[in-house]
Amino acid sequence: MRRAAASVVGMMFKDVTVARKSADQIAKMRAAGRVVAEMHAELREAIRPGVTTRQLDLVARDVIERRGATSNFLGYHGYPAVICTSPNDMIVHGIPGDYRLKEGDIISVDCGAIIEGWHGDAAFTAGVGEISDTARRLLEVTEQSLYAAIEAMVDGNRIGDIGHAVQSVAEAAGFSVVREYVGHAIGTAMHEKPEVPNYGDPGTGRRLRSGNVFAVEPMINVGGPETRVLDDHWSVVTADGSLSAHFEHTIAVTDDGPEILTLP
Ligand code: MF3
Ligand code: CO
Repeated sequence: MRRAAASVVGMMFKDVTVARKSADQIAKMRAAGRVVAEMHAELREAIRPGVTTRQLDLVARDVIERRGATSNFLGYHGYPAVICTSPNDMIVHGIPGDYRLKEGDIISVDCGAIIEGWHGDAAFTAGVGEISDTARRLLEVTEQSLYAAIEAMVDGNRIGDIGHAVQSVAEAAGFSVVREYVGHAIGTAMHEKPEVPNYGDPGTGRRLRSGNVFAVEPMINVGGPETRVLDDHWSVVTADGSLSAHFEHTIAVTDDGPEILTLP
């Protein structure tokens, strides 16, 4: 999600108590997460040279329908699809359309679903056929940065520990972390407060508590961190044209440690 303006953060996000979901509520989020994971599995199968991003959207719509879920993306501020498809230097929020995947591309796919009012949200980036060594490393490092963040999601840690984990992994590899877009708490809405930046200092920010659920979503660029929005008012690309990857899971903080809810 887009980061709120600093003034808004100061005014509204300061004293937010992060909602703590019950075991029953987390079970519903797990059900939504399972639909999202199924979208991922079918989309990974569908990704190959020659396929259009519109066809990928149709694959995702089919899963949502089959599982009796609804889409949290479709109609969100007028968004026209159930997934976001963002190739190569596109970071996030690409609208599915006539773009045809070709050998050597990377494609970021962001998916969401609602079951009984509870939301799941997760993203992955995949290679199309053979990809460059740099692209492969970008995908590996971005996914690793997400898993490092998940390990930090234990009761008593803080929001800054999540961002610090992402940033450490990404920057150690020589890549950069996007700042203008961030993760978020999630529950009966896709975007709940607070924001979860992919950068930060350890031991800072709000404390994580059992029952908190967050969508953590590192967006990592090969070049600089700066972003630009295209004329369609949705597609976010790297300002320098470098490749970008995006991995996301919805994760619950529990007494037994982090639980990834967007798994099969
Ligand atoms: N999952 C995306 C995010 O957290 C939301 C996509 S909303 C859509 O930023 F409208 F672009 F689909
Ligand atoms: Co998200």
